[in-house]
Amino acid sequence: MSTPAELTTALPAEPRAELTVPLRFTLNGVQQHTTAPVGTSVLTLLRDRLGLTGTKYGCGEGECGACTIVVDGASVNACLMFAADLDGRSVTTIEGLAADPRARALREAFVEHGAVQCGFCTPGMMMQATQLLARCAQPDEAAARAAIEGNLCRCTGYKKIVEAIVAAGQAPASEGRR
Ligand code: FES
Ligand code: FES
Repeated sequence: MSTPAELTTALPAEPRAELTVPLRFTLNGVQQHTTAPVGTSVLTLLRDRLGLTGTKYGCGEGECGACTIVVDGASVNACLMFAADLDGRSVTTIEGLAADPRARALREAFVEHGAVQCGFCTPGMMMQATQLLARCAQPDEAAARAAIEGNLCRCTGYKKIVEAIVAAGQAPASEGRR
């Protein structure tokens, strides 16, 4: 005869309804109406639900900057923010920089200066650098270093990335940067 404990373990697991929250926010200029499971990070929402894989999952705990996005004009680690907190906000990801002239200047400078090796850190670096160029059109080396201080790169040693950011700020205005 089964003991109460054995009976308990023999019962089939109750199917659990996923608890979700409705969300309305602007993503790269487009209004989104979606839902997200409670407790889901913005990074998971972007990558797994919305298919925007340009934002990278590195450490998942706010240490590497690979998941950098911009929320209401401020850089944010998407792995540390709950998707539920996006409601009513405006989000820019690396995909949203496709037509940004500052990002174009950065892309060219990153290539020219060899600032991309494996490329894993590059979206986060580009997000930070684009924000920097929006605040300061011609940053010096110290400003460039400060802008990416929360972003880790295991390949380049940072020198080439910093050089590329400074060079992007010096690209001719005729290229449509400003
Ligand atoms: S994945 Fe978010 S900071 Fe590393
Ligand atoms: S280029 Fe590989 S981590 Fe930065």
